Amino acid sequence: AAQTVQMTVQPGDPKLQISKHIYGHFAEHLGRCVYDGFWVDEKLNVPKQGRIRMDIVEALRKIKVANLRWPGGCYADAYHWRDGVGPTAQRPRTINTWWGDATEDNSFGTHEFLELCKLLGTEPYLAANVGSGTVQEMATWMEYLNSNADTPLTQQRKQNGHPEPYGVTMWGIGNESWGCGGNMTADYYTDVYKRYATFAHNYPGSPPLKRIVSGANGDDANWTETCMKNIPLNMMWGLTLHQYTLPTGNWNGSKGKATGFSEQEYFNTMRNCLKMEDIVTRHSAIMDKYDPQKKVALLVDEWGVWTDVEPGTNPGFLYQQNSLRDALVAGTTLNIFNNHAERVRGANLAQAVNVLQALVLTDKERMLLTPTYHVFDLYQVHQDAQLLPLQFSSPEYVMGNEKIPALNASASKDKNGVVHISLVNLDTKKSQKLETALGGVTWKSVSGRILTSPKVNDYNTFEKPNTVKLASFSGAKKRGDKLAVEIPPQSVVVLELK
Ligand code: AHR
Repeated sequence: AAQTVQMTVQPGDPKLQISKHIYGHFAEHLGRCVYDGFWVDEKLNVPKQGRIRMDIVEALRKIKVANLRWPGGCYADAYHWRDGVGPTAQRPRTINTWWGDATEDNSFGTHEFLELCKLLGTEPYLAANVGSGTVQEMATWMEYLNSNADTPLTQQRKQNGHPEPYGVTMWGIGNESWGCGGNMTADYYTDVYKRYATFAHNYPGSPPLKRIVSGANGDDANWTETCMKNIPLNMMWGLTLHQYTLPTGNWNGSKGKATGFSEQEYFNTMRNCLKMEDIVTRHSAIMDKYDPQKKVALLVDEWGVWTDVEPGTNPGFLYQQNSLRDALVAGTTLNIFNNHAERVRGANLAQAVNVLQALVLTDKERMLLTPTYHVFDLYQVHQDAQLLPLQFSSPEYVMGNEKIPALNASASKDKNGVVHISLVNLDTKKSQKLETALGGVTWKSVSGRILTSPKVNDYNTFEKPNTVKLASFSGAKKRGDKLAVEIPPQSVVVLELK
């Protein structure tokens, strides 16, 4: 019989919150994320406000998108904001050289993005062009958006329909500056960063800027070390990190299929996903050396599963399906971020619609919610809640000669004193029995919801959009002061204790 795992939920530090910004998303001008995703043809027969697709907006509002990053990604370092403001008919056509050489008509620009954010009830997170832009271009974008002085730029904003300053605070200064953002060395980038950051001004009436350093790729410790060493702490609000999960772990050649994979491929994916724990720990340790008070946030502003594209689709559009495996990756990764709440204060899944590990997929009028969407639905309870640290020792999920921890979890207490525990069982065959002691929590009853499916590679299609869906969970019981749970194989469970 399976051994019962003993777990303790600790009282934690009442001041330590899981930042809601861990639940951020990403919309790049890439494939069908913006065009034919959020922003559709006038003739498409779906609910719209202007050309913004409202069935997507409605679905995303339900999961509370904390921030939305835009316009890239690699595209950000090719984007010139002036191309996307003013009368649509007069906006230039440009080429999206990063993503499929698609023609960009610039009909979705700054105002349209900020309107989308307003409809979503989310905070915009802009990425300024460092790779092919200028300091002045970034500075004028900031003045255009945030100033209430009477200048030609603010006049222009008013003429373009927005009299009040927008007050955009989250600004990434470049993206992947070690790669598509300019192939810079870390030393060179930090000088460039300081130059840009010097001219990223606060404007009276708008809240102070959160200036964000373009950070490391995966386990590149040198990049983080150099940024922390060279950039004064008061010049950066945050530092980023990009870490994707590739089923094969191989950037050159096949990354692995999004569906129809074997259990071995599933296991490998989860092993690769779990590297996030080690990577976040190592970057945090470097940051601690220079910033022991943890003033600077670590933002994992690109993460998620990256597979081969769906057969027959444009390789430059990064369209992939999304299975229960993606949901297990999302649940696991978000547990890692929650548990690192002290330093990880932001993250952005790549990407929201029709690209990589999407929340929503569309096909003309049709739309489906992916298994990953349901995990964000389950986990929204953690946003801005107090972290409750957990102690337990996980059983192993064994495959051939390899093993990974089968169980991962995180917990929080919200402002009403309600406790939520999110549990992920990665094992495809064994359920996990848990006995949980809760320090200092008073509760009377437990309820829960579960995401699972008979096969780990099950997924939702436009014909069958509810193959992988949420259900209520009855496998948790109060036994005296303790909580007894049996978590089914390959499932994500979120419990509510009140
Ligand atoms: O999310 C897709 C791409 O991945 C982004 O544009 C880039 O920043 C990263 O390499």
